[in-house]
Amino acid sequence: MSTHHESAPPLPEPDTPSQASRTRATTVPLIRQRKREGRTETPIVMLTAYTARQAELLDPHCDMLLVGDSLAQVIYGLPSTIPVTLEMMAAHGAAVVRGARHALVVVDMPFGSYEGAPQQAFASAASLLKQTGAGAVKLEGGAAMADTVAFLVARGIPVMGHVGLTPQAVNVLGGYGARGKSDAEAEKILADATALEAAGAFSVVCEGVVEPIAVTLTDRLAIPVIGIGASNHCDGQVLVTDDMLGMFDRVPRFVERFANLAEEVGTAARTYAAAVRNRSFPSAGHVYRTTA
Ligand code: KIV
Repeated sequence: MSTHHESAPPLPEPDTPSQASRTRATTVPLIRQRKREGRTETPIVMLTAYTARQAELLDPHCDMLLVGDSLAQVIYGLPSTIPVTLEMMAAHGAAVVRGARHALVVVDMPFGSYEGAPQQAFASAASLLKQTGAGAVKLEGGAAMADTVAFLVARGIPVMGHVGLTPQAVNVLGGYGARGKSDAEAEKILADATALEAAGAFSVVCEGVVEPIAVTLTDRLAIPVIGIGASNHCDGQVLVTDDMLGMFDRVPRFVERFANLAEEVGTAARTYAAAVRNRSFPSAGHVYRTTA
């Protein structure tokens, strides 16, 4: 897409999201209600999105779009999600909201913006929702975050939880391996998710958890459990979009590549470079003339 297209509409002013008050087709109560009597009939579809155009393309196919702090690695080439700031999440969140029409947009709260105290979490989450127009926030952690989740929900901020492999805790976990292999770990994951549900979270992401625990968790909670590297049995699935598009050479075993865009991008760039070097591009049809 050219950034110099003459008929492109002007971008809205930063920090004044034009869609902030727009009613979305998919709301938090609608997602919550998808799980009735312990079962979600049709799995909930969620993908990450970081830009307006990506959101436009994904939105018709998704129930929720997650502005994940995985943008650290995917967009910024950072080694982990630790360095992500509220400003980064606000900028990408606002872009995604501008591109989404139907899906519920959920924005990740970055490391360090919510763990200190419920009041800190409220200030950060309120600022994210104000600046982006998103419908909910997601935060990592279980029982330790339950008071914070309850504080946010009581003040009008819908919260999605995130248990199991929580990438912001990589320095404590020691890596990105699957969780729930020992009885103690499994019990902690179940207790964490149960605490989040009791605190009022409307849904929980269950990441990198051995399948039997993901299944038990899905059966045990009344709120939708969204799996990634978890189980087909979960109430929904989320993937990092660039992973499933095949933008990276290496992906975790739980990722299915539904396209091979890295190869397509490489081919397009190689073809473009050759066309520039042999002067076949730009051709007569690409240049402006003094007369029509
Ligand atoms: O940041 C992210 O993209 C996520 C998903 C992997 C669940 O948290």
